[in-house]
Parts: sequence; C-alpha cells; structure tokens
Amino acid sequence: MIKLRKKKADKTKLQEQIEKIDEIINRYEDRFKDGHKVLIELFQDINQEFNYIPEESLARISKRCGIPLSRLFSLATFYSSFRIDRIGKHHICVCSGTTCHVNGSDKVIDELQSKLKIEPGHTTEDGNWTFETVHCFGVCAHGPLVEIDGKYYHKMNPKKLNELLKKYEDDK
Ligand code: FES
Repeated sequence: MIKLRKKKADKTKLQEQIEKIDEIINRYEDRFKDGHKVLIELFQDINQEFNYIPEESLARISKRCGIPLSRLFSLATFYSSFRIDRIGKHHICVCSGTTCHVNGSDKVIDELQSKLKIEPGHTTEDGNWTFETVHCFGVCAHGPLVEIDGKYYHKMNPKKLNELLKKYEDDK
C-alpha cells in the first residue's frame, strides 16, 4: 500500500516536472531557429528551475524542435555550469590528484563507489548523495582529502569514510 502511494506521488511529481519543462520550452519555441544561443538560455532557465537539466527536458526539446537528442546532450554536458544529473541532498567530493592518490585516495574512491553504487559525477537513486572527484583541492599534504557539503576531511581512508557516511546518514 505504501509502495503504491509512493508510486502515485512519484508519478504526480514527474507530471508536474514535465508541465514545468513544457512551460519553459514554450517561452523559447519561436526562437529556436536562432540556434545555439537560445538553447543556452533555455538550458539556463531549466537548470535554474530544477538545479539540473532533467533528461526528460532534453527529450522534450528534441521532440518539439527537431533538434537531435545527441546534439542537445553534447551541449548540456559541454558546459560545467550545467548538470544533467540531479544534485543529491549531500555532495561528496574525493580528491584524485597525484599526492592524494599516492596516499590512498583510490581506496577511498573504490569504497565510496561500492557503498553508494554510483560512479563519480552521479547521484544516488534515493537522492541522498552526489559523488564527484576533483584533481586537487590545493592542500595536498593533508590528503587523501574528502569534502562533504563544503566541509573538508583530511587523511581519509575507507574506515574513516564509512564512519563519516554513517554520521551524515544519521543526521538525515
Ligand atoms: S592532490 Fe589532493 S589536495 Fe592536492
């Protein structure tokens, strides 16, 4: 019963999202012939509304305006200011730079991938975590470094990572 209710709520949420996407596309539809610039403006509006660019929006723009989905996808992933994956409640970023790597950041990354069951650049199914890697935080002597929601954790290892994840999960 609870599952059914959740399914219904998800469906309603998706429908609302689609309506909002269509409303945004409507604002730009007669300017699509202007090309690239208009698409960027449209992406900015969608990104501002949802905090990412839902895949559904790319599909709807493609269908309504005849622009190939692959072109829209390339454009949306080219600019770092756009995300095509929603942002989770918590953001976790692990340094994969040389110094952190030498000190074991690969083990931290492996542990995180296995715990969250996602690759870097993605958000967990439940929307709790967005996981990313970075090339250097600029404080290499303290590595391996992990940043969670803007807070930095030094000298990380899989054990410390698991304790941290639990702490954040418990604070939900
Ligand atoms: S290499 Fe990780 S902080 Fe610089």
